[in-house]
Amino acid sequence: MPAHPAANSETSLPRVLLTGGAGYLGSHTYVALREAGFEPVIVDNFSNSDPAVLQRLEQLTGQPVLCEPGDVGQTAWLSGVLQRHRVRAVIHFAGLKAVGESVQQPLRYYRTNVAGLLSLLEAMQGTTCRQLVFSSSATVYGEPASAPVNEDAPCAPQSPYAHSKWVGEQMLNALGVSEPSWQMGVLRYFNPVGAHPSGLIGEDPCDLPNNLMPLVSQVAVGRRSRLQVFGKDYATPDGTGVRDYVHVCDLAQGHVAAVQALLAGTPSFTLNLGTGRGSSVLELIRAFERASGRRIEFSFAARRPGDVATYFADVSRAREVLGWQATRGLDQMCRDAWHWQAGNPLGYRSGAPASAELGTHARQPVHRPPAGLQALPAMRA
Ligand code: UFG
Repeated sequence: MPAHPAANSETSLPRVLLTGGAGYLGSHTYVALREAGFEPVIVDNFSNSDPAVLQRLEQLTGQPVLCEPGDVGQTAWLSGVLQRHRVRAVIHFAGLKAVGESVQQPLRYYRTNVAGLLSLLEAMQGTTCRQLVFSSSATVYGEPASAPVNEDAPCAPQSPYAHSKWVGEQMLNALGVSEPSWQMGVLRYFNPVGAHPSGLIGEDPCDLPNNLMPLVSQVAVGRRSRLQVFGKDYATPDGTGVRDYVHVCDLAQGHVAAVQALLAGTPSFTLNLGTGRGSSVLELIRAFERASGRRIEFSFAARRPGDVATYFADVSRAREVLGWQATRGLDQMCRDAWHWQAGNPLGYRSGAPASAELGTHARQPVHRPPAGLQALPAMRA
């Protein structure tokens, strides 16, 4: 018996376009959409992702992956993709996300994040699809006056990356005012971490990671000798920075809930996605040591410029509007991140997954895509 009643008639499942669908959040959301009975279509230019993820997604879902390789900046092409697949809703992940890099290369960030969104909106205008979930970030708040941070807190973006997300949100607001038929869900993520429990997909930074969790994972697996903990004298219980780490599978389910709400007629919304709980750097390191059984070597270093002491979400509005809340705690985030990292020490470049859990995901036959649609099966870098 198929996992979903309509699994054999692929065209009857509502299609959701995932720009940046081969990336970290995109790939996990792909799986969650499949589980919820949607048929995702990936658009990705693979500038910061590995085509090997497509094979992993097929392995994980037992379904062919529909992927249209290309850039969201190609408006006419993108409009054709939307029409050809009769897309019902779009989730826009495609974008750049490194704060420091955005300071070095601001125009690249505005081109990719702002012009990319503009191109997508124009492409959608050429179709009947008016439902969009936009991948934003808690970084738009800048330095919040207090925590928890709710959606009414003033926005004060501090980097070109943060500003590019804020400009994107303003573009959506303006469009919603001029054309009320649009329904847009803006999701402001706090600190996404972890991986799918299968160990088949996870975060795979191409360059030196910027974020704490991938660095901790790489120390644990032996790719790096030690970690620097930025600051030990913050006004927090143990002196290290406190953040709202949220499991990527919870975030993925938040996106599914957002799409379902928009398709059910919910008016546009802007929501925080986090757990509502803060954890310090040292708490995360200790949790990762428990999860991995490895010692994480670290030394204290000076505070990183721009870091705040404490940052976590007020998540009540997401619960009210979407009926969504994160369910996975820090231990599970670390367990799943470690499972992915241990099975794929070099990320997708590790080759065949070495995950111990793989046997529990029986490989199912891969179906051919409907005629005229392009699927990219089993590409490997
Ligand atoms: N940290 C270290 N050592 C490191 C890296 C990070 O001690 O090598 C600390 C930071 O000082 C901070 C915590 O770990 O206290 C988390 O840092 P991350 O870089 O993982 O995450 P940030 O909270 O700085 O930023 C993240 C994303 C941003 C996003 C923001 C929103 O990187 O894109 O969350 O909350 F905007």
